[in-house]
Amino acid sequence: MDLIATDIFEEIKKLKVAKNAIILAHYYQEGDIQDVADYIGDSLGLSQQAAKTEADIIVFAGVHFMAETAKILCPQKKVLLPDLKAGCSLADSCPPIKFKKFKEENPNHLVISYINCTAEIKALTDIVCTSSNAVQIVNSLPKDQPIIFAPDKNLGRYVNKITGRNMLLWDGSCMVHEIFSAKKITQIKHAHPSAILVAHPECEESVLEMADFIGSTTALLNFVVKSNAKEFIVATESGILHEMAKRAPHKTFIPAPPNNNCACNDCPHMKLNTLEKLYACLKNETPEIIMDEVLRKQAEKSILKMLEISAQLGL
Ligand code: 13P
Ligand code: SF4
Repeated sequence: MDLIATDIFEEIKKLKVAKNAIILAHYYQEGDIQDVADYIGDSLGLSQQAAKTEADIIVFAGVHFMAETAKILCPQKKVLLPDLKAGCSLADSCPPIKFKKFKEENPNHLVISYINCTAEIKALTDIVCTSSNAVQIVNSLPKDQPIIFAPDKNLGRYVNKITGRNMLLWDGSCMVHEIFSAKKITQIKHAHPSAILVAHPECEESVLEMADFIGSTTALLNFVVKSNAKEFIVATESGILHEMAKRAPHKTFIPAPPNNNCACNDCPHMKLNTLEKLYACLKNETPEIIMDEVLRKQAEKSILKMLEISAQLGL
């Protein structure tokens, strides 16, 4: 790569116009990628944008299940992912063959799956949800409806608590959100007594119990911008701090500490994408997400159901 950073920004902008391309980026992407994107958001916002874009090419700066969701919704468009190896530990924690068996063992259950799963799991799902709408989607169903919730047990447990349901939970989790240490957060709270703890619902129960506010990445962002507090401990992937600092420059954001000394609140999958890879991917129009049409159609139903319920609820 022989372009310096400012040139890459300019080249990406030119390529976007020339190719009628749009860049969708998740808040967990590195700051440069967020800055060059046409839209940054959480998983719900990104899938809504993908569903309505008129661009010919979608460059998805996120992980594989997100780009795959965009392809499922936009089969005629070219969907590119800067690094095809950008996977997700949560999606990996739900293998389709095992999940199919689990579903067959509980035949009267409706299946709600968090969008952080593969197309094969979405094809076995009745309604997809994200962390923005999981509570509302569950609440939209009759109280006596038996439900399987997959793959994230932490989000599922949180939704059970809020809705008073007893959904059957698949035993999956996210490697990034499971690593936060409640003990170390307590120590930081002592050192910063006025700091507010905000947490993503993928965190473990011990962290969520301490949190002052729980929500999706977009909800956390909106909360810290509107709040009168000046200091926040942020228990989610570190990429969100970029937009928090941009939108609330006079506030202090402290990343929640992991239970060891690694940079574990960086998602290694999200961070496989770089500005250089994004540029190369837009220029060469590869790597591309390719999907089997039968699988795509099966997976599409559960995503469209989510978008339909979300639109009805004004989400
Ligand atoms: P949201 O985008 O719904 O906040 O989820 C976060 C996440 O883990 C995406 O991988
Ligand atoms: Fe998957 Fe967790 Fe990374 Fe999100 S943060 S992409 S859930 S591993």
